Amino acid sequence: MRIPVIAGNWKLYKKTAEALQLVQDLSSLVKDVKGVEIVVAPSFTVLGPVRSLLFDSPIAVAGQDCFWAEEGAYTGEVSPGMLVDAGCSHVIIGHSERRQLFAETDEKVNKKITAALRAGLTVLFCVGETLHEREAGETFAVLDRQIRTGLNNLSPVDMEKVILAYEPVWAIGTGKTATDEQAQEAHAFIRQLVAELFSSGVADALRIVYGGSVKPDNITALMAQPDVDGALVGGASLTAESFAAIIRFQK
Ligand code: 13P
Repeated sequence: MRIPVIAGNWKLYKKTAEALQLVQDLSSLVKDVKGVEIVVAPSFTVLGPVRSLLFDSPIAVAGQDCFWAEEGAYTGEVSPGMLVDAGCSHVIIGHSERRQLFAETDEKVNKKITAALRAGLTVLFCVGETLHEREAGETFAVLDRQIRTGLNNLSPVDMEKVILAYEPVWAIGTGKTATDEQAQEAHAFIRQLVAELFSSGVADALRIVYGGSVKPDNITALMAQPDVDGALVGGASLTAESFAAIIRFQK
């Protein structure tokens, strides 16, 4: 039995006042929700205030990225231990925006995942193909490469703290959600690959969430797919009402 995860990636939105308003509204809208792991990923500068407001809430707080070194001369970077210090339990790693805009390679993603796990964080590890790659029939090859390298040298115990996020790049922020069948097909492929790399037990326990234009009106159909265990939500996580509606999906 995999516990569903619904995570909101706020990207480069929400300064302190708006961020606090959002989590306050969200907390009251979902206070009766049980059996769903809820995560919000604000920007670094508001992690502390958001976490303080959520101190007695089951809503978890995530960083949107982290560096692999714990400390050193790395101007502008944030370490896994700093995220823990700010009250984070989760971190997003390998988001396609980081891969595309900030030259993040599969090898860098692997170093970050390894360091985040060592610090005790749960990792939301993002993978997904571009439109060009999908149209060229390379979707599975891309997922295979990203996952093999991203999870390189991890142990089955490490995998207990990894959540895979399948985010087809063409579906992010475009309003073009993958069809339920496309999501299921990719998730089943990922689960099979993880079974091969680790074991069927690890693969069965792994949560695989879908990301890319998830909205209140498409979450139920996505969640009905057997290998879809939750969602990583961008735009629709920026208002409490729509994010709460997604959290309240009916399986
Ligand atoms: P949208 O939900 O805005 O398409 O963003 C998805 C995403 O990138 C979540 O990480």
